[in-house]
Formats: sequence, C-alpha cells, structure tokens
Amino acid sequence: MNRPAQTGSSVQQGGLVVFSLDMRAVDLIVKKRDGGALAADEIEFLINGYVAGEIPDYQVSAFLMAAFFNGMTGAESGALTRAMINSGTTMDLSALPGPLVDKHSTGGVGDKVSLILAPLAAACGLQVPMMSGRALGHTGGTLDKLESITGYSTALDADRFAEIISQCGYAMTGQSRDIVPADRLLYAMRDVTGTVESVPLITASIMSKKFAEGAEALVFDVKSGSGAFMKTLDDSRRLAESLIATGESLGRKIVAVITRMTEPLGYMVGNFVEVVESAYCLMADRAPSNFRYPADLMDVTIRLTEWMLVAGGVSDGVTEAEKRCRDALADGSAYERFRQNVAAQGGDPELLEAGLESRRSPERQTLTADQSGYVTDIDAYQVGMAGVYLGAGRSKTDDEVLADVGVELYRKVGDEVRAGEPLCTIYAESTSSLEEAARRVTSAYCIDAAPPTVEPLILDELTSL
Ligand code: URA
Repeated sequence: MNRPAQTGSSVQQGGLVVFSLDMRAVDLIVKKRDGGALAADEIEFLINGYVAGEIPDYQVSAFLMAAFFNGMTGAESGALTRAMINSGTTMDLSALPGPLVDKHSTGGVGDKVSLILAPLAAACGLQVPMMSGRALGHTGGTLDKLESITGYSTALDADRFAEIISQCGYAMTGQSRDIVPADRLLYAMRDVTGTVESVPLITASIMSKKFAEGAEALVFDVKSGSGAFMKTLDDSRRLAESLIATGESLGRKIVAVITRMTEPLGYMVGNFVEVVESAYCLMADRAPSNFRYPADLMDVTIRLTEWMLVAGGVSDGVTEAEKRCRDALADGSAYERFRQNVAAQGGDPELLEAGLESRRSPERQTLTADQSGYVTDIDAYQVGMAGVYLGAGRSKTDDEVLADVGVELYRKVGDEVRAGEPLCTIYAESTSSLEEAARRVTSAYCIDAAPPTVEPLILDELTSL
C-alpha cells in the first residue's frame, strides 16, 4: 500500500527534489534492509519527504533500523549528512571576527563539559557557536541541562545566535524548524527506536549540526566505554575516523579526542545538578568550601579547550593553551562569560546562584556501602538509565524532562570507602522512580578489597590539523 504523496510529481524545495515519480519509501527501506547501498538522491528523497511530513515516522524508523543493522558506506553517510544540512538553512556568521571553533561530544553520562568549556573558550579569545542536542538514550543533553536554568532559552534564530556570540563569545542553541530540521526529527526518532549506536547515523547527526552552525574548526569528544554509544576503543576510533573524514570533506579542521566514559564524568548526573557542578567549576576558588572538585571532568574539559585554542590558531600548542585556560578560570573571566550568557539567553544569574545549593527534587535516598574497600566500578550506563527513570531523559518523544532530579555521587572509582559510608544521593519526583533509580545505581557500584587500576581519561587523539 502506498500513499500517493510518496509517488507524486517532483517538487522543488530549497533546490532539492522532494518527491519523485518513481521513488517509494518502502522500496528504499527494502533495499537498505537487504544490504544495498542507497544513492544520494534516494537518501535525499527520504530525508526531504520526512521533513515535509510526507514520509511517516513508521517508515523512517524502519529505515533507521535497516541502516543500524546493515551500516552505510562512506558515500551514503556523506550523502545523509549533506541531505540533513540541506533540509534547512545554515547560519551565516561571517560578520563575526572569529576564530569560530566549537566542540561536540558523542554523548556520555554526567557529561556537562560544554557548559564549562564554552565560556572558558570564549574567555580565552574564541567565538563558540554551539548547536547542541537533547538527552539521547541513556545520555544527558546539553539543551535539557541549560533549560533547567529558569528562563534560559535554547531556541535562538540565526540573528540572535550571532548577536549573543558577539556579546559574550558564545551562544547555545538547538536544531529548529529552520536549521537542520532533519536532525531535530531524526534525533528524537532514534532516541526512542533503539537506533542511536550507529557510526554513520551519529556522524551525520553531529556533522550536519556542526556544519550548519558555521564553526570553522571542530573538536570532538568521542566517548568510549559503558556510558558511551561506542563501548570499545576500536568502535570509538571508527567513529572518530568517520567524523574526521566527513568533517574534512566539508572543509572543516577537525580534532577528535577519545575519552574514557566508563564511570560518570564528575559527581553530578541530571539536569540542574549538572548546572550546579559546572557553575562551581567555573567559579574555581570562589566555589563553596564543601564543593567536591571533579578532577576528571576538569581534565577532560581543559584538554578539549586546549585543542580548540590550537585549532582556532590562538595558541601555538597545547601547553600554552593549558596555561590560558587555567588563568581564565583563576581570574574569574570564564565565570563572567557564563553569567553574561545566562542573562543573554533569558536567565537571571542571581536567581540561578540563589538556587545552586537548594534546588533538588523532594524525594531522596542516600545509598551506602555494604562493605569496606575500594570503588572499582560505577557502571555509567546504569547510572545514565537511572537518570532516564528519574525523568532527566526521555522514554517517548513527547516526554517532558524534569529539571531537579538526579544523582549526586560522593565516591568515584579508586576511592576508599568504609561499610555504611554514603556512596551517593538520588533526587526524585516520585517514590516509584526513586526505587527504580536506586536499584540501578546500587547495581552500578562495585566495591572490592583491592584498589583498581584506573585507566587514563584521554585514550587517544586524532587530528587533521
Ligand atoms: N550527539 C549527536 O548530536 N548526535 C548523535 O547521534 C549522538 C550524539
């Protein structure tokens, strides 16, 4: 059975053919299902038809699952990226003096790096046009975290995006009806159809956003481990290589840093709780004295920012770049950029600061160690899933995310703990979500008599510079 709209006459939209006389979505799904490679015009047909509302969700989810299982060739992945870019307009930031450099993570648990890195890079002399994503699968989303700041809007049009970058050095936005609408739709569909963990689909999703936002150079944080979409170093390298190849073919300078994502990054997992941790990291010495400094989070953040400064040509090498980063944290200029950005995007920095210590969901439970020893593992996937059950992420496309739920860890891998001491506190909106989250987090923690060997955080670095 075919709907006439999918076989109707050709229509030009933004220079692209939307419908074709002889193409049917079902034939393309079958071709992909049977291991065939789709031509560029076939991929355009699917993407444009989906964005135009003519190809329904159920056919697109079948196509995504076929692509997930059978993979895509380099040519298909490039064609998908281009079709997604062309589904909307691209930002024109040529009036900004630059250098325009951005970073993007392939997704992790407790990954609030963007919230710290963007103001830090801006304070070090870069302009950062950042188009981010929402929670995906078990991983958190930068947009959901930022929107937990009362009043903060991530729906910026192109003019406002450029204006905010020129005011405070960076702006944070999401895909919209105008800019990469195909990623807005596909991202939400992949989130709830089990089709996230695919190198070509991740590459096209990330590169389409990054091309459309107008950055000249890009640094990727390719996460590897249980809390990432790529669980092994080999798979993470494949993703890094795919991002570099596609980015270069689009004329961008690329660095990919592969980082360990076996335990949550930092101590906080959720939405507002991650804003809290980020704000305190940016405050540096001015953070409250009881703030637990997340060394892993800051090591990854600073390394990625160093590469941004090198890729943007404002630092000669990573050693000099590191000094600039540490100075911008110590002298308060990075935190000042953060406050300026919050105000520019609709938030109130003073209201935000007033809620840093107190805004947490009412239902809470503290989990304690059942034996003495060393924490040898905190399975990031299980903690991420606990976050989804609490409502920090979504199970269906129209789920609302909750701002104040989350998990606050007190012990990380390698820490010593005595029986009965607290491991973490869970904040929830309901007792049922609290129970499920507690079950997941309990299963995530492993304690052993012997201290573990902790793997390095930076596993590899690949660059096209
Ligand atoms: N980040 C994205 O923007 N897209 C993905 O598919 C995964 C991580």
